[in-house]
Amino acid sequence: MLRIWTLYAVLSTLNAENALEYHHNPRIILTEKDMPFRRHSRNGTHARSELVQGQHNDSIYVGGHRMLSYVDFQTPSQSKEVSMFENKCRDQEPTDSCEYDITILHKISGGKEVFVCGTNGILPVCCHVPQSQLGSCGSFSAEGIAPFSVEEKAPSLYIEDELYTTANLYIRGDGVGIHRHYGTKGKISSRANKTEQRVVAMAISGPRADPVQDRIYTFFVERNLDRHPEAAHWVSQVMQVCKADRGGTKNILDRHWTSLLTARLYCGIPEKALHFNRLLDVDVLHAANWTDSKVYALFTTGWGMRAVCIYTMGAIDHVFMTSRFKHKAEPAPIQPRMCVENSKNLPPEVLRQMKDYQEMKDLIRPVNASSPFMVSYRHYRHIRVDTVMGRDHVRHTVLFLSLESGKVHKVLEQAGPTFIIAELQPFRSRTHIQNMLLQTSTKKMYVSSSSEVVELDLRSCVKYGQRCEDCVQARDPYCGWDGTKCTAASRDTVQDVKHGNYMVCEEEGRTDKYVASRHVHSLPPTAKYVLQCPIVSGHAHYSWHHPGGQTDCLLAEGLCLMLIEKMAPELEGNYSCVFSEGGYQRTLVQYELQTESRARGLDSSLLAPGILLLCLILLD
Ligand SMILES: *[C@@H]1O[C@H](CO)[C@@H](O)[C@H](O)[C@H]1NC(C)=O
Ligand SMILES: *[C@@H]1O[C@H](CO)[C@@H](O)[C@H](O)[C@H]1NC(C)=O
Ligand SMILES: *[C@@H]1O[C@H](CO)[C@@H](O)[C@H](O)[C@H]1NC(C)=O
Ligand SMILES: *[C@@H]1O[C@H](CO)[C@@H](O)[C@H](O)[C@H]1NC(C)=O
Ligand SMILES: *[C@@H]1O[C@H](CO)[C@@H](O)[C@H](O)[C@H]1NC(C)=O
Ligand SMILES: *[C@@H]1O[C@H](CO)[C@@H](O)[C@H](O)[C@H]1NC(C)=O
Repeated sequence: MLRIWTLYAVLSTLNAENALEYHHNPRIILTEKDMPFRRHSRNGTHARSELVQGQHNDSIYVGGHRMLSYVDFQTPSQSKEVSMFENKCRDQEPTDSCEYDITILHKISGGKEVFVCGTNGILPVCCHVPQSQLGSCGSFSAEGIAPFSVEEKAPSLYIEDELYTTANLYIRGDGVGIHRHYGTKGKISSRANKTEQRVVAMAISGPRADPVQDRIYTFFVERNLDRHPEAAHWVSQVMQVCKADRGGTKNILDRHWTSLLTARLYCGIPEKALHFNRLLDVDVLHAANWTDSKVYALFTTGWGMRAVCIYTMGAIDHVFMTSRFKHKAEPAPIQPRMCVENSKNLPPEVLRQMKDYQEMKDLIRPVNASSPFMVSYRHYRHIRVDTVMGRDHVRHTVLFLSLESGKVHKVLEQAGPTFIIAELQPFRSRTHIQNMLLQTSTKKMYVSSSSEVVELDLRSCVKYGQRCEDCVQARDPYCGWDGTKCTAASRDTVQDVKHGNYMVCEEEGRTDKYVASRHVHSLPPTAKYVLQCPIVSGHAHYSWHHPGGQTDCLLAEGLCLMLIEKMAPELEGNYSCVFSEGGYQRTLVQYELQTESRARGLDSSLLAPGILLLCLILLD
């Protein structure tokens, strides 16, 4: 008895907290027991993981410490692992580290080759690895391409035959910028900037109707030069360069960008004096029309709070096309904002201005000039975004946010409060997620730690429940009710992502009118008893409605319990476990309790075995 009351006390305080932080909590928690995670153990331990899609469905390449792996989750026997450049550091002092960590990984030549670069001590090298013959490659110097250190993120982008990189040019660390290699237009670099910068992500702004106008965006944070004590330590920015840029003339901006502009990204709630200044991660959802492509950016305040702000490429482009320059006295000759086919032909005064002024005055603001999409105290680290076509012909967007503990939150994009569909727990113990890769064609997510890579099937729906109502209330765009189970959504499954209104089940004729399960129990006078009701949703409110009024649950082991301390005639009647969520309410279970003398001959097989078990525990 004492045990369960103590538990009750603890759980009821938790419940009160849950109520306050309701929308920061996942509706359901899915572990290995609930969802088929497929795992791959990485040989050794790795300081970072670079992930790219493999040649088959459900396969990926993983770059790590010394090793390039091909992991096939469908056919694990096909998985391969090769060690790269083992102990081949050239021309180095014997005291230097000679470790090789893969820092850049791209699939190129239509998937026939993997482009791999790594630290190789402090003499980074790259090589082209044929897909058919993993491991064989001739390495070449990665000077200005790959970072010197495994710690430096240095994102890069391989588009067609051009490689855009952001690695530091100097080992002392003050040469961050954007550099283009290979291709036909020549190598172009940024001028070194002594201000501390860290690049977070790169993306193409396009494809546009006129390919000459395509741009590359680089998202980065920079140490704030404003030393005012109130000023933020970091500012988040986007840098654009034109893909067509060929650099300047011999005298001005020779082999340097002539189209480089920067603008600040704003994310905050000014009326609450909340400013999210430091960008942590970015993912881009490309739309058919590039102006509608969306940039999902994860920020932090620097003291723990996180926010996700959403920008359109159209809005970013608008700032670069129309804003005044920040430090430039107006009026002054207008600099051309269009990309040009041959930048070497630009007039000297234009090149000179592009050399002197880069920063835009206007801030880039989130969609509809609104507040952040989401604000949370959870320590999110990575963001990935996917879209799913719903049965309502609406494209639903789902965000995946990694937590520092190794978990992943699956979040529905909607107006209004955040809705965390589920918390996925891919790892068996607390760990640090190094990277995430979304394979949108197969709806699989790969998450990696220093020792493991786990595949998550985003269309794993069974755990939401065994009734249409449970499936619909989950509001998971990947899932729907097919008449017998909650399964991957298709044209023929029932769902209501927008509202989670379980009544669509009945309207669709997919289920009989909803009737709660009902049990009649006959108890000896003075008997102790426990009534139970399953808890599925962390967002729902569960309570017992009975002749004496309404009672909150006693929560234990995923059940909502009600304790009858001593059966008596006045306690006779109907006990209903009522679940309410998102404005929808239904009775899950109903018990009719009677005292034994009044109900002689009642079939005792109606007693739920779980109740008998609980009674035995409690009376013990
Ligand atoms: C791990 O590495 C060791 C030594 O290189 C090797 O013998 C073993 O087969 C590798 N394991 C896997 C799973 O590749
Ligand atoms: C370095 O960056 C700062 C801030 O963006 C800018 O004001 C400065 O002009 C840059 N320096 C060079 C050399 O580009
Ligand atoms: C893309 O969207 C913009 C803004 O909504 C519009 O002006 C433009 O015509 C669209 N382009 C195409 C090719 O549909
Ligand atoms: C932004 O505005 C458009 C059009 O007014 C609307 O369709 C869209 O839902 C809004 N987005 C957000 C996040 O409010
Ligand atoms: C790969 O997955 C896609 C999407 O699920 C499917 O259409 C395709 O048939 C699969 N290909 C192979 C070879 O299994
Ligand atoms: C309990 O509910 C059932 C149907 O839900 C009803 O028939 C019955 O009369 C109720 N019993 C009491 C004691 O109210």
